[in-house]
Amino acid sequence: MRTEPSQPLRVLVTGGAGFLGSHLCERLLDAGHDVLCVDNFYTGTRANVAGLLAHPSFELLRHDITFPLYVEVDRIFNLACPASPRHYQFDPVQTTKTSVHGAINLLGLAKRLRARIVQASTSEVYGDPAQHPQTEDYWGHVNPIGPRACYDEGKRCAETLFADYRRQHGLDTRIARIFNTYGPRMQPADGRVVSNFIVAALRGDPLTIQGDGWQTRSFCYVTDTIDGLVALMEASEPCPGPINIGNPGEFTVLELAERVRKLVKSRSPIVFVPAARDDPRQRRPDISLASRLLEWSPRVGLDEGLSRTIDYFRRTLVPGAKTPAAKAATTASVAADPRG
Ligand SMILES: NC(=O)c1ccc[n+]([C@@H]2O[C@H](COP(=O)([O-])OP(=O)(O)OC[C@H]3O[C@@H](n4cnc5c(N)ncnc54)[C@H](O)[C@@H]3O)[C@@H](O)[C@H]2O)c1
Repeated sequence: MRTEPSQPLRVLVTGGAGFLGSHLCERLLDAGHDVLCVDNFYTGTRANVAGLLAHPSFELLRHDITFPLYVEVDRIFNLACPASPRHYQFDPVQTTKTSVHGAINLLGLAKRLRARIVQASTSEVYGDPAQHPQTEDYWGHVNPIGPRACYDEGKRCAETLFADYRRQHGLDTRIARIFNTYGPRMQPADGRVVSNFIVAALRGDPLTIQGDGWQTRSFCYVTDTIDGLVALMEASEPCPGPINIGNPGEFTVLELAERVRKLVKSRSPIVFVPAARDDPRQRRPDISLASRLLEWSPRVGLDEGLSRTIDYFRRTLVPGAKTPAAKAATTASVAADPRG
């Protein structure tokens, strides 16, 4: 079922200067494609793509996807949207606009170009799930008016639009439901649980857990998630999805904190604060569909992925370093949000 295109394509990556987007741009350039990275730098940075700027097949365009975009491409990955609760709750109306108006604009572009388009959706569409593990046919349990709704419902509405453009306009749309992903280039101060724990452990600060720490999560290393997204885009047969992309290994947040502490060889204490509102108790993808249709499954184990991520933060958090990551970390003192 999987194929890689034999000739170079023009690929648009929205949110390409973010954590996942920058890895995706790199991966597509390595495969020989022309990459147009579009970003408004809301949470992404030029630093994330600094290594790509000189590449002859890479182009960076500052643009907000809530406004129409007129470019010529063959494929579209729509990743633009703040992903950490701290960032998406900062301006919730803009978050919903990015998901909904952004989807409309990019689907309109795809329709004009008859381009294939992949949406980066999220496990948050399952909300606090009543079914475990989550399969794609589970409709979810989401509070539509809670503080997280701007993200969860925005992404759900984007999925609706992708499904309707497929039905109504015959567009080749594909939806990936991405579960917690971690790795180099996460922002140290965005409140996501993996980066938060690593940064705190490296700095000797307490590892702060929201709730009792028994809530479970699955953590997928970034290269595995990128492989899954590319496999979904290049699947030779129409593959509308939604398809879960994540690592089915399930760990409690407390286990994660202990592993990070051990790998960093840190003596940081673990402290607990009240749980965040609407925090799901369990999260684990069922990836049977991705295994069957895309012949994809994650390959990087948690300890290996954490070690690579710790190496990255060790390099970027050296005192006096000028990277945005290092600067942000020096002002960060936050509780880890287990929703990643
Ligand atoms: N990282 C994860 O664990 C995870 C899990 C599920 C889904 N996702 C989805 O994957 C995508 C990428 O997530 P990420 O972790 O890389 O987050 P990120 O915040 O690092 O990247 C998002 C990028 O989108 C850009 N952006 C935001 N609003 C924009 C707008 N209106 N116009 C143009 N660009 C805009 C940001 O500047 C940033 O570069 C998001 O859509 C997110 O919902 C990520």
